[in-house]
Amino acid sequence: MPSLPSILPAASWEQLFATPYSPSASVIVDRLQAGEAAELAYLTFKSCRELLETAGNGPADNEGVVALVARADGRPVGLVLAEPMRPRDDGNATGQKRLLLRSVFSNLLWQHKGIGKLLIASLETAARDSGYSSIQTEYTPKLESFEAFERLLASAGWGSPQLFMEESLFWIKDMVDGDWLKRVPQLPSDYELVTFDQLTEADRAGLHVRLNSDDIPQGLSPFAEEEHLVPELSVGLRHDGKIVAWMSLLRSPVVHDALCYRSLYVDPSLRTANGLGPIVAAEAVRRHAANPIAEERPKGIFNTHHTATKQMNFVRKRLLPCCFDTYAFRSSHLVLRPSSSA
Ligand SMILES: CC(C)(COP(=O)(O)OP(=O)(O)OC[C@H]1O[C@@H](n2cnc3c(N)ncnc32)[C@H](O)[C@@H]1OP(=O)(O)O)[C@@H](O)C(=O)NCCC(=O)NCCS
Repeated sequence: MPSLPSILPAASWEQLFATPYSPSASVIVDRLQAGEAAELAYLTFKSCRELLETAGNGPADNEGVVALVARADGRPVGLVLAEPMRPRDDGNATGQKRLLLRSVFSNLLWQHKGIGKLLIASLETAARDSGYSSIQTEYTPKLESFEAFERLLASAGWGSPQLFMEESLFWIKDMVDGDWLKRVPQLPSDYELVTFDQLTEADRAGLHVRLNSDDIPQGLSPFAEEEHLVPELSVGLRHDGKIVAWMSLLRSPVVHDALCYRSLYVDPSLRTANGLGPIVAAEAVRRHAANPIAEERPKGIFNTHHTATKQMNFVRKRLLPCCFDTYAFRSSHLVLRPSSSA
């Protein structure tokens, strides 16, 4: 999919200042009404506007997205958005229903007045009533309201924030000049590099079989977020008729001038210090740099989970010197007890 257009209009001053703070206003929280999504777009991040539109489709068609609106004397002053987590989003298939908090916003004039707390409490009730076992959120310390958000979570009883992932950004022109690229091993003669648009039906079928049997973790699937995939820049490695490694590249739906280096994977039996990971990563970098897409998306972005020790070492030693920014993502969650025992 191309970079997300602003499918909903941005905030206007009229919207922001339409409802001045009033301590005597009656504040309630209820569900998003039909046809209301567009006018509430200023109460969420640009990257969540598509989600808001989905919520606005109504119960039959909203894919379980929860959108709750805080209203002061009937006028919207806050919005919380959450969506069901896919069963294996974190490689942790427990069979329990979990909700992902995507955004919580208070109108600027109503911040620090308890609206955030009210929205989070209402989300908790709605999630429990719908049979969710927990709510999770993932966020960056780059948020302007980082401190307020963490205080909000703490006062609502969420677990203490955990560092779980590092995100790094680079200019492709710097990465393609990186020292590590010069030291990437030669491709062994019995391996073949292919781009994803060259994958055969047999390659795809073989990958799907391994994904369905959990041989390959869903989170590292070459087909993850396929709607954003750039097949001509995503690279696979074929060996003995099997795709054994890959680096998939996506158009980042969040950072509109970046390609997301999404899934780097090497078959466990071949993780023998033969450099197959760096080989596919390097090929993807070279292709990104040489493609006209580098004008529209001159940046690369990648995430490294704290638990992936080998990958973290590779990133720290080789890639980080070519990056201009890196920061740790944090996560927090709230465990829900069923309504009857609450
Ligand atoms: C984060 C946000 C939703 C908080 O909403 P809010 O309506 O101001 O929150 P509340 O008034 O209910 O306050 C909740 C807690 O945050 C604290 N807080 C609120 N604003 C704060 C600020 N500017 N600085 C420090 N703490 C702040 C409050 O003191 C309260 O903590 P306490 O219970 O320990 O006293 C709001 O700042 C916002 O809309 N930010 C922009 C969007 C965003 O970044 N959302 C978070 C990521 S999804």
